[in-house]
Amino acid sequence: MSKNVLIISTSLRNGSNSEVLAKEAEKGAKAAGHNVEFVTLKEKNIRFCTGCLACQKLGHCVINDDANAITEKIKNTDVIIWATPIYYYEMCGQMKTLIDRANSLFVSDYKLKEVYVITTSADTGAVQTVLNGINGWIACLNGVKLCGYLDGGNVNEPSEVLKYQKLLEQAFNLGKNL
Ligand SMILES: Cc1cc2nc3c(=O)[nH]c(=O)nc-3n(C[C@H](O)[C@H](O)[C@H](O)COP(=O)(O)O)c2cc1C
Repeated sequence: MSKNVLIISTSLRNGSNSEVLAKEAEKGAKAAGHNVEFVTLKEKNIRFCTGCLACQKLGHCVINDDANAITEKIKNTDVIIWATPIYYYEMCGQMKTLIDRANSLFVSDYKLKEVYVITTSADTGAVQTVLNGINGWIACLNGVKLCGYLDGGNVNEPSEVLKYQKLLEQAFNLGKNL
């Protein structure tokens, strides 16, 4: 069955390793016949959540920047694939900021069901602490499950991941097997 898939690439650097893997997942998902939308946070204007909770009454954030349009995409997709560099053994700050700004999900009839995570990091095995954070988000959303992840460990320099064919294949297969 064809699914709507939203891929959000959160690294801001050129030659992003996590974005390379996200693009492979995009190819795999398209090969499987899914409808895929790819969003990068590069050059997006996304301010911090101020905690006003107006979103709980209005169903959208009162800050008028790029977060609202991306939040609507999150509400309307079946599957989300987050791609994040690991910063201090967590998801990167720009991903966390977007998750906070998407707080109107709580009061929305979102379609989202499946979450996948792709990480890259200098270290290996670092994905586990990122999953803690992601699971915290998912635990707050009804009917949403973490369905898979890819640990792109041992890559640090820009585009270094291109040397690791196995990781590229794993990312392609993550998308293909959604
Ligand atoms: C601020 C910062 C913090 C980082 N923290 C970690 C870390 O805790 N563990 C780790 O293994 N790598 C860490 N790294 C390395 C990145 O995760 C690594 O370079 C990764 O490949 C970047 O992915 P990207 O190219 O998609 O941005 C950090 C890099 C930066 C810039």
